[in-house]
This record gives sequence, structure tokens and C-alpha cells, in this order.
Amino acid sequence: MTVKLVTNEKIAETSSKGNQEKWFDKATNRWYKLDQFGYEALSEVVVSRFLEQSNVEKDFPFRFVRYGMERLHVHHRDRNGCSSENFLQPGQSIITLSHLYKRVLNKPLIVSLERLSSDKKRIAWLAEETAEVTQLPEFPQYMTLLFEIDALFLNEDRHLNNIAVLEQNGKYSYCPIFDHGASLLSNTQIYGMDIDPVAHIKSVRSRPFNMTFNRQIIAAREKFGAQLRIPKFSRSEIIAELEPLLEFYAARDRGMIADRVCACILTRQKFM
Ligand SMILES: Nc1ncnc2c1ncn2[C@@H]1O[C@H](COP(=O)(O)OP(=O)(O)OP(=O)(O)O)[C@@H](O)[C@H]1O
Ligand SMILES: [Mg+2]
Repeated sequence: MTVKLVTNEKIAETSSKGNQEKWFDKATNRWYKLDQFGYEALSEVVVSRFLEQSNVEKDFPFRFVRYGMERLHVHHRDRNGCSSENFLQPGQSIITLSHLYKRVLNKPLIVSLERLSSDKKRIAWLAEETAEVTQLPEFPQYMTLLFEIDALFLNEDRHLNNIAVLEQNGKYSYCPIFDHGASLLSNTQIYGMDIDPVAHIKSVRSRPFNMTFNRQIIAAREKFGAQLRIPKFSRSEIIAELEPLLEFYAARDRGMIADRVCACILTRQKFM
């Protein structure tokens, strides 16, 4: 079924933040995001499906957003996208770390981070300072877990608006883990389809600290311990998860997308 997001009437709100065009639809209480540079929706969905097999909601007071594939009729065209249920309860707001620090620091966050002498100290500072400001004692574990998920699925977009907390009446809580759209080499404009995915995998760097994924997780884990437990996936398990999602994409691209996703997960899970 195709979801119509834009008709003659405005039925949804669009957000100006972020790369992907997106809408909140009041009628379904869901957020919709369009594919922009490649197969972001497939990445978003497949990562959230694999997280079902992890310890994220079993061992921690954290949640993660479930994404579903969508065919969206937007700007008079059928496009691929994904959707997720609105995770905000009435009265709750999402505060990204970027916004949080603009509020609590009298200077840009970068100034506080730059005065520290190593990446390890910067990671520790951001995790512990956020725990202190928000009174969320497990925020360092939450951040480590995010970095581990990003390292496994090669999400290159964990900037400070993709890490957040929730706020209600001045009290903070953990935000469901969201936005894996830039994982698994989904941006085919930067990571061209004509190049061996293994070569791309070596070149992707992690955010928000702009280092290799391995360094970022080693630094976070040395300080806060390893958090993520998730099975090692075989090629056939990955393909089984991908098959229904690939149906949304052009037949000529399906093999290529499957190869790239398998290459990412099979390569990266060796380091986890
Ligand atoms: N399921 C949801 N429930 C509540 N808010 C949401 C949900 N999905 C998205 N949002 C809102 O939209 C914002 C952007 O979402 P998201 O990071 O997934 O989009 P994006 O376009 O990939 O962003 P960017 O390109 O900046 O990383 C979130 O910070 C949040 O305010
Ligand atoms: Mg985002």
C-alpha cells in the first residue's frame, strides 16, 4: 500500500532538520523519512530488525525505534522511505545533545572538547557531563551502546543531533535509539556502486569524534565497559532479513545492495 503524504491539503508537518526529507503525520502518529542519497530506509529498517536480537531492551532501561519500509507518494511520485511510531508522549520533548549543550554551556561545546588532550578524554567528558547535567546515571552506557551499534553497522552520521535525551517538566529520560539511515554504505552518491564495498568500508569514519570506528569503541569501552550483545550473523541470515526489503528497490540494484550490506556486517562484526 502506498502512503500519500502530500495531497492538495497539507496533511503532515515537515521538519527542517536533517538530511532526509521527513514528515510527522498526525493521523497515523508516525514519522516518515524519504530515501535521499541511496537506500537509507532499508538501512534504517534492517538495523532496527537486528537490534531486536540484541540486549538493548533486555539489559538496560533503554529502548530503540522500530522502523518499517514504506512506499510513499510524495511530490507526485512514488518514493521509498521508512516510518516509525512517534516516541514522544504528550508533554515530552526531544532535546538533542547539540541543543542541550547550547543551553547549559556559555560557550560552544567544541571549546570544552578541544581543551581536552585526547579523544579518550573527550568521549569520557561528553558521556559523564551529560549524565551529570541530565541526572541520567547510565548515559555513559547509553552512549557506548550507540557507538557500538554504529561501529557494527557502519553508521557514519552519529552527530550531536542524532544523540538525544527526552525532557518533561525539567526531568530527563533516555531517548529511544534512533536514526541509522546512514549505515551500511546507504549513501550511494558518496560510496559509489562501482567500487568494491570492502574499499569503502575502510574509509568510513565515525562521528561525533571523527575517528575510526574501532578507536571510538575501544575508547568508550575502556572507560565504560562493553555494552552491546548481539549474535554474529551469517550471510544467509542477513539475506533473509533483506529479501522483503529489497523488493522496494529497482531489480537491477538489489544484488548490489545485498552485497554491500553483507560486506559491512560480515566485516564489521569481526571487530565487535
Ligand atoms: N519516531 C519518532 N518519534 C519522535 N520524533 C521523531 C521520530 N523520528 C524522528 N523524529 C524527529 O525528527 C528528528 C530527526 O529524525 P532523524 O534523525 O531520524 O532524521 P534525519 O533526517 O535522518 O536526521 P539527520 O539527517 O539530521 O541525521 C528527530 O530529532 C526527532 O525530533
Ligand atoms: Mg538524524
